[in-house]
Amino acid sequence: MVDWAKIREDFPVLKRIINGRPLVYLDSACMSLKPIQVLEAMNEYYEKYPACAGRSIHKLGEEASNAYSDARGKFARFINAAEPEECIWTRNATESLNIVANCVHLEKGDKIVTTSLEHHSGSLPFVERARRDGLELVVVEAKSDGTFDIEDWKQAIDNKVRLISVVHSSNVTGTIAPMKEIVEIAHDRGALVMSDDAQYAPHHPLDVQALDIDFSAISVHKMCGPTGVGVLYGKLDLLKSMDMFLVGGDTVSDVRYEDHKIIPEYLPPPEKFEAGLQNYAGAIGAGAAAEYLMAIGLKEVERHERSLLSYVLDELKDLGHVRFLGTDDINIKTGLVTFSIDTIESAHDIATFLNEEFSVMVRSGAHCTHPFHYQMNIPPSKGTARASFYLYNNKGDADIFLEGIRALIEASS
Ligand code: ALA
Repeated sequence: MVDWAKIREDFPVLKRIINGRPLVYLDSACMSLKPIQVLEAMNEYYEKYPACAGRSIHKLGEEASNAYSDARGKFARFINAAEPEECIWTRNATESLNIVANCVHLEKGDKIVTTSLEHHSGSLPFVERARRDGLELVVVEAKSDGTFDIEDWKQAIDNKVRLISVVHSSNVTGTIAPMKEIVEIAHDRGALVMSDDAQYAPHHPLDVQALDIDFSAISVHKMCGPTGVGVLYGKLDLLKSMDMFLVGGDTVSDVRYEDHKIIPEYLPPPEKFEAGLQNYAGAIGAGAAAEYLMAIGLKEVERHERSLLSYVLDELKDLGHVRFLGTDDINIKTGLVTFSIDTIESAHDIATFLNEEFSVMVRSGAHCTHPFHYQMNIPPSKGTARASFYLYNNKGDADIFLEGIRALIEASS
């Protein structure tokens, strides 16, 4: 049994009192809070061995190299990658998605598939690749509850499709895509699947081998880790076969100079995709975050969030005036609720009221999912509000949030 009250003590920011009220942080789908274990791991790097990994052979360099490579190993265990080399450190999930969109070999006549539910980072790199190379981009439309009809996938993925970008768990509806089925259809027709796991990996057990996904993009700042760190998972053979993204120092084993020519010999992954000096503290923090979550258990995290979500959804439904985006089936949903209130014009007014009157922090806007908001006839300027739960939230947080929503409905009716 996880002692959730004790978990809260790991997060120093939860002790903050804002405007005389305890902080209620419900914006973890944007940015998670950081436990002391992650902060200490990064501090240790800066205090004890703040050197370059993979370059300097002195003592501090050796310690930095070991910690950097340990962190990769921890991350590989976190997602059950077959090899640590399949985990590339990037700046964020967006960069991971851009690497795949730009570096997978595609030829004239090949097609790319994405969906109307993608975060802009999951669609735009592929929109631009298609535009640049004159490829057809096919969009699978999500249903209005944020789920997919598997028949639409069967129809969209013909044998010309080579690459698919699909969000595993939506940052706006919270709905979980039928990834295993999508991967099976894709592989059957010779296509590769890029899974946007930015919202999935922090909240559910992710097993890249069991799902057989080809690529996965993860943002560490959403999983109790530092900002400015992401991971690109890719099957090793695919990473080896891809074009380079950024090149420069540390991506090469040698660069010869012959007949006025510069001739590089590139290293295999992960170095192939990690040009220049890296965010060593960030990677070490990412390893610590992965370890922290594994110690608690992702199944437990999922269960905890779903029990809060179930409670909040039931209470919100009873209030009337609240319109949800996405299914209310918590079994295919991550712990977030996106909504509007029919007596309030702009979602920013919801977030502002909750912030100022209750110190409840939710996100408002179109959440980088303008296409799905247009599909739902919600102008991005009006937007939606989103409350997202994580392992450190409790029923007390949910009750204060609900108290705020009740007060807002009353004040605006
Ligand atoms: N993608 C992040 C969110 O949904 C920023 O809030």
